[in-house]
Amino acid sequence: MADNRKSCLSGKGLTKVFGFGRTKTVAVDHVNFDFKEGEIISIVGESGSGKTTLAKMLLGLINPTEGEIYFQGQQRDIGTHKKKKEYWKNIQAIFQDPFSSYNIFNKIDSVLLDCIKMRGGSRLPHEQKVEMMTEACSFVNLKFEELTNKYPFELSGGQQQRLMIARIFLLKPKILLADEPTSMIDACSRATILDMLMNLRDEIGMTPIFITHDIGLAYYVSDTVYIMEKGIFVESGSADEVILNPKEEYTKRLLNDVPKIYEEWDLSTV
Ligand SMILES: Nc1ncnc2c1ncn2[C@@H]1O[C@H](COP(=O)(O)OP(=O)(O)OP(=O)(O)O)[C@@H](O)[C@H]1O
Ligand SMILES: [Mg+2]
Repeated sequence: MADNRKSCLSGKGLTKVFGFGRTKTVAVDHVNFDFKEGEIISIVGESGSGKTTLAKMLLGLINPTEGEIYFQGQQRDIGTHKKKKEYWKNIQAIFQDPFSSYNIFNKIDSVLLDCIKMRGGSRLPHEQKVEMMTEACSFVNLKFEELTNKYPFELSGGQQQRLMIARIFLLKPKILLADEPTSMIDACSRATILDMLMNLRDEIGMTPIFITHDIGLAYYVSDTVYIMEKGIFVESGSADEVILNPKEEYTKRLLNDVPKIYEEWDLSTV
């Protein structure tokens, strides 16, 4: 059957090599993929398999050694600072450690104001900006009026991650790369953060890409799963296909690493 869904992000032969000679590491090794608009994608792999390196290339934070990236079917061009800023309106990320994503000298209101500016809202009346920031905060159960004079480091890890989501709410990117967004927070906040990300997807219609070592989470949240081993996608397909009927030993091993979820979801017949 023809796949009529629009391509949102794709890669051809995407490769990243760090170092050279004996220190050479092929972190991402000629991967090909075509992420479709609106589908929820997970990239799953063990530590060191190249997930963050791939995410950084997709974001334009590091250059590929080889290969091309296409955004909405067009080869990506982020050759100038201006083009890069334009690209970042479309693709944003949330990382494992929310604190590292903030400039420590910026108060929370200026963090949020920057997002409004990035979307071209610099000249909006002050009251309207406050209204937008209040709405973004309330989307993630934070109270804007209690945060205005604070710095991100004065918030808990879970609150900082929610502030990251409030930023995304204001930025309204087409794609959100979420690199282990819940691995540094407690189990209870983890479920809340995931719920918020899923609500955000409905609210602003973005395509989320989850990057995780947790194949259970991938099954729970995604339509399509890519399994990454040593810089290569060894298996991909619908979450049901890949997780209920894994073909690769590596995928089976990842599944064995989450015994509790395995039992809970009664996947024990796999
Ligand atoms: N800046 C760098 N310089 C040299 N090697 C690097 C660099 N960044 C990553 N690597 C190497 O590339 C490989 C892939 O790393 P990457 O961080 O992409 O893995 P990952 O799948 O995100 O792992 P984790 O689950 O632990 O976050 C690793 O062998 C790592 O040591
Ligand atoms: Mg990583």
